[in-house]
Amino acid sequence: MSIYDEITSVLKKTKLFKTNIIKIKDIKELELKKIIFLGKKGIFSEIFKKMSCLCQLERKKWSIEINKIKKEIQYLIKSKETKILNSNLQNKINSEKIDVTLPCKRFNIGSIHPISKTIYEIEDYFSKMGFNVVNGNFEIEDEYHNFDALNIPKDHPARESHDTFWINNNYLLRTQMSSMQIRILKENKFPVKTLVSGKAYRNDYDAKHTPMFHQIEGLVIDKKINFSNLKWIMSSFIDSFFKEKVTKRFRSSFFPFTVPSMEVDILKEEKYWIEILGCGMVHPTILKKINVNTDKYQGCAFGMGVERLVMLRNKVTDIRLFFENDLRFLKQFK
Ligand code: DAH
Repeated sequence: MSIYDEITSVLKKTKLFKTNIIKIKDIKELELKKIIFLGKKGIFSEIFKKMSCLCQLERKKWSIEINKIKKEIQYLIKSKETKILNSNLQNKINSEKIDVTLPCKRFNIGSIHPISKTIYEIEDYFSKMGFNVVNGNFEIEDEYHNFDALNIPKDHPARESHDTFWINNNYLLRTQMSSMQIRILKENKFPVKTLVSGKAYRNDYDAKHTPMFHQIEGLVIDKKINFSNLKWIMSSFIDSFFKEKVTKRFRSSFFPFTVPSMEVDILKEEKYWIEILGCGMVHPTILKKINVNTDKYQGCAFGMGVERLVMLRNKVTDIRLFFENDLRFLKQFK
């Protein structure tokens, strides 16, 4: 094939490409064409090489001509490339379009359980009163701290298995937070002003009792602590908890670890007296157990059920609701 035939073939191929480029839709196909025409061993570099056999004049003439066509092809390929890339991008944007008017997903934010919340609230109240708030571990307690140390006689019905969950002959699930009293007294230097909260367990189940419930126990030991101090502490706590001046009744009662002992009732709907807590002056025998000079130091103590307090304040009629985790119930305390 003469060099002129070759040049004619190049001209034909480029002409054909110019009319067909419109059909190219795919970037890969375009790149292939780019290599065929403009690559190192492509149509243009080959023809330029071959033109070296032409005389100077002819070579100059054809070089100018073919360079012009090459530039045209370069331009066409470049603009086609931009077009394809832009349309690809547009397709991608269209397919991934976000409808900003759609309603967003709802977030359910958890909240603190009403019992925990009330414990924090009461702890906060007493810590502002100068009480030391401590952690009431020892859910598994020994017989000594739960009963013996608190003067509860060996034959007391509370010790029986229908009231107490025994683990073995010596250990049990504590039935009251008062079991922390001796531990608190042993650990602290006097004066003591401590509040402790935690779980207590009793073999009971109905609308007013669950086998596990929460109690808060307070203990104050100091010189000259008397019954009026205890009454004032209880009275101001109750008013603060119910956020109003509550009518209260301090009713004489019996607990083996306090003397005298009282239960505090509050008047509901101006009709019913409802018991809300137990308290009393710490029994001297308890203080003597840890060698406290009872002529010098006296103390008072109180204990209350957290569920009961929340039930009274929020008019909850069944204690079991606290542990069923029904969100319709729990959300009301948010
Ligand atoms: N521990 C008692 C109970 O579970 C409550 C109680 C009564 C605690 C009198 C006290 C107290 O500290 O002095 O019923």
